[in-house]
Amino acid sequence: MNKNVVVGVTGGIAAYKAADVVSRLKKHGLDVNVIMTKSAQRFINPLTFQSLSQNYVVTDMFEEPKTWEVEHIALAQKADLFLVVPTTANVIGKIASGIADDMLSTTIMATKAPILIAPAMNTNMYENPIVQENIQKLKNLGMHFVEPAEGRLACGDYGKGKLAEPEVIVNRAIELLNQQKDLKGKKILVTAGPTKEPIDPVRYITNHSSGKMGYAVAEKAVARGAEVVLISGPTNLTQSAGVKKVDVNTTNEMYKEVLKRFEWADIVIKSAAVADYRPSNVSDNKIKKSDSDFSIKLTRNPDILMELGKRKKNHQVLVGFAAETQNLLENAKKKIQKKNLDFIVANDLTEEGAGFKSDTNIVTIIDQDGQLEQCKKMEKKELAEKILDKAKNLLKE
Ligand code: PMT
Repeated sequence: MNKNVVVGVTGGIAAYKAADVVSRLKKHGLDVNVIMTKSAQRFINPLTFQSLSQNYVVTDMFEEPKTWEVEHIALAQKADLFLVVPTTANVIGKIASGIADDMLSTTIMATKAPILIAPAMNTNMYENPIVQENIQKLKNLGMHFVEPAEGRLACGDYGKGKLAEPEVIVNRAIELLNQQKDLKGKKILVTAGPTKEPIDPVRYITNHSSGKMGYAVAEKAVARGAEVVLISGPTNLTQSAGVKKVDVNTTNEMYKEVLKRFEWADIVIKSAAVADYRPSNVSDNKIKKSDSDFSIKLTRNPDILMELGKRKKNHQVLVGFAAETQNLLENAKKKIQKKNLDFIVANDLTEEGAGFKSDTNIVTIIDQDGQLEQCKKMEKKELAEKILDKAKNLLKE
C-alpha cells in the first residue's frame, strides 16, 4: 500500500507495543514516520523505531531537521493517517485543549489526515470524567479511537485501560486507510437538530431532536471526501473537522440558509426536525401569568423540503426523513410524492432505539417507486453511510 502513517508514541509503559505496531504497518508495505514525546523516550529508545520504520525518528521540536520531510508541517501534510499509540491521558487532554507545545502535538494540530488514537492508562485515569469528556470531545470532532482492553495493567490493577492488541490497532488503521473517498468533488447539504420558535424572551416551542442523525451524515460525508455544509438547529454537538456549520434557531432561518445553498448542492439530506408552526406574535416581554387560561395562536411555517422539491434540478438528489408515531409507511410514502423526493428515511418515534436522541435508529427507506428497504436497528453513523451510498448511486454523472 503506497501510503504514509505518522505514528506518535507517548510516554506510557505500553510504548514498547508501539514497536510491534510499527513493524506490522511496515509489513503492510506502508511508509511510517515516528514522532516520540520526551516521556516516550524514557520507556523505549528511538533507535528501535528508526530500525523498524527505516526512517529518521523525530524526538525534538527544535532540533535541526535532517531532511525537510520531517519538519512538522511536512509530516502533517505527508500523513495519510495519524496514529497515536499508546496515548496517555495527558496527550488526550492536550489535543482536546488545542495545546501544541512539542513536535507531536504541533503536528497533530497541523494535520488534515484522519487521526486514530489508541489510549492506554490506569483504569481510574481512564474512567476519570475529565478524561472521558476529552475523549468524547475528540470523538465528536471526528477522531477515531481503538478502545483499550480490560485486564491486568502494568501497575498491578485490573480493569479497562490496557492498550488494545497491536493486531487490532493495525487492522483499524488499514480500514481507515482503505476508506473510500468516493464522494470527493460532491457537494452535500445536510440539516440537523430541532428548530426553536420563540414565544417570548424566555419561552419557546421546540422538539426532542438532538442532531445526532444529521451530524452523523455530515461526519461520514466529509470522511468520504465530500464538501459538506451542515445547517444546524440548536444542539449540544460539535461538528466533525471539515464540516462547515451554519447555526440557526427558527424554521424561517433554516429556510433562508438552506435555500441560499440549494443550487450549490449535489445532494441534500434533510434530517432536521423542523417546527411546522410558530407563535403568530412573539412578545417583547415575558408574558405574565393570570388566573385565566391562555392560548397561543400559531402560524404555519414554510415547508423547506417541499420548496426544495419544487426547485430540484435533474442532477440533484433530494433525501427527506419522516418522523411518525402512526401509519409510518403510508405517511412517509405521501411525503415522497408531495415533496418530490428521491427517497425518504422513515423512523417510527415510538420504537425503542429509533428516532430522537439515541445513538441508534430503526428505519425503512422508501424509494420514489414505493420500493421498501426495512433496516435492522443500527448505529446512526452506520445508517448515515447507508443513506450516502444510496444517494451517491442516484447521482447522474
Ligand atoms: O436529531 P436526532 O435526535 O438524532 O433524531 C433524529 C430525527 C428523529 C430528528 C430524524 O431521524 C428525523 O426523523 N428527522 C425528520 C424529522 C421531521 O421533521 O419529520 P417530518 O415527518 O415532520 O418532516 C418530513 C421532512 O420534511 C423532514 O425531512 C423534515 O426535515 C422536512 N420538513 C418538515 C417540516 C418543515 N416545515 N420543513 C421541512 O423541511
